[in-house]
Amino acid sequence: MSELDMIKERHSVRNYLDKPIEAEKQEKLKALIDEANEKGNLHLQFIEDSGKVFSRIMNKAMGLSTAPSVIVCIGPDDDTLDERVGYYGEKIVLAAQEMGLNTCWAGTYSGNKVEADIKEGERISIVIAIGYGANQGRPHKSKSFEEVTAGKAEKPDWFVQGVEAALMAPTAINQQKFLITLNDDDTVSITDKGGVLSKVDLGIVKYHFDIASKAARGL
Ligand SMILES: Cc1cc2nc3c(=O)[nH]c(=O)nc-3n(C[C@H](O)[C@H](O)[C@H](O)COP(=O)(O)O)c2cc1C
Repeated sequence: MSELDMIKERHSVRNYLDKPIEAEKQEKLKALIDEANEKGNLHLQFIEDSGKVFSRIMNKAMGLSTAPSVIVCIGPDDDTLDERVGYYGEKIVLAAQEMGLNTCWAGTYSGNKVEADIKEGERISIVIAIGYGANQGRPHKSKSFEEVTAGKAEKPDWFVQGVEAALMAPTAINQQKFLITLNDDDTVSITDKGGVLSKVDLGIVKYHFDIASKAARGL
């Protein structure tokens, strides 16, 4: 199955089975994380036992506290960290989906309960809950194509496909606060309109757009 199929199948899952991720799949995840860290200058870490990362009452109420494991998204603290985390982290999220696992990006983690290696100059951007879902989640309500696009009136198919995949992207509180502009020279600009964790959203949205628009052009 392609990454585009995974974009369509993935939904946030907040309730997990009491079933650990097998060693073999953990190894695959760690290899993907190593690749993301190298390409994105990141320090993402897979933590097998999520421990008390989701112990806040809201996470207990939402179910996230049942997530067996977590990927902690850490990196050198600069203006581009959140966007890079979103871009490279979503590649791992989609690969996890292909492996039969489920995920949920989560900004509501307990930072002081995260047992990760945070080097000087680094910070936690966000975490990703991961494990076997008790369900597969469901499609989110979405803004329309017109609400998130601008620029040239005539939109080529690869642009349309890219935007449709972007609209399937997870965003914090499903805010979808992004704008995808088709410029006169047929280049694309994707910007965020602010909001909570919107730079992480921006990276995720750019990844979805890239995957679908390239697939539509046979790249
Ligand atoms: C940056 C970011 C932060 C998020 N934080 C949380 C969170 O703290 N708790 C939670 O339950 N869901 C969280 N989510 C999941 C969103 O609520 C979810 O992606 C959105 O409602 C769209 O649904 P979908 O992922 O099923 O398509 C987050 C998603 C993103 C991208």
